[in-house]
Amino acid sequence: MTPEQVKLVQQSFAQVAPIADKAAEIFYERLFEVAPSVRTLFPADMVEQRQKLMATLTAVVAGLSDLPSVLPAASALAKRHVGYGARPEFYPVVGEVLLWTLARGLGPQWTPEAAAAWTAAYTTLSGFMIQEAYGRPQAAE
Ligand code: HEM
Repeated sequence: MTPEQVKLVQQSFAQVAPIADKAAEIFYERLFEVAPSVRTLFPADMVEQRQKLMATLTAVVAGLSDLPSVLPAASALAKRHVGYGARPEFYPVVGEVLLWTLARGLGPQWTPEAAAAWTAAYTTLSGFMIQEAYGRPQAAE
């Protein structure tokens, strides 16, 4: 990601922050519509889950300016997701739904540049997470 892209992601996310809970609600509603099979992996009551998602996104987006600072937490998050039943192939659909949600939330401020910046951010983060959780061969000790 270029420094300009990091800034664009941070600026656009700041615009969604005031409607964070609504955005998370729209996100999960859409996710369960396009990928109904993942619904059972989540709790019935999504109130806490929405808060956790937005808190984590806030931390990750802030940390993009210093990527190495967020990688340990991203690695731990990815490894917890194995236990939640998340599979590598779910990451792209989650990314699509995240971008779809942001596009809806931002309206005209969702520019092609913002879309490209978010695509770069999600590709970087999810690629790293998938590798951490599923991609490493077991160390032979
Ligand atoms: C970069 C992408 C993702 C982020 C930032 C993210 C974020 C989170 C966070 C913050 C939690 C709360 C629990 C914790 O911190 O361990 C969580 C839980 C969960 N996530 Fe994700 N997630 C991502 C990708 C995915 C994907 C691809 C799936 C696949 C379906 C998924 C499914 C779940 C499930 C099932 C739970 C647990 C619900 C529960 O049992 O309480 N997540 N996620």
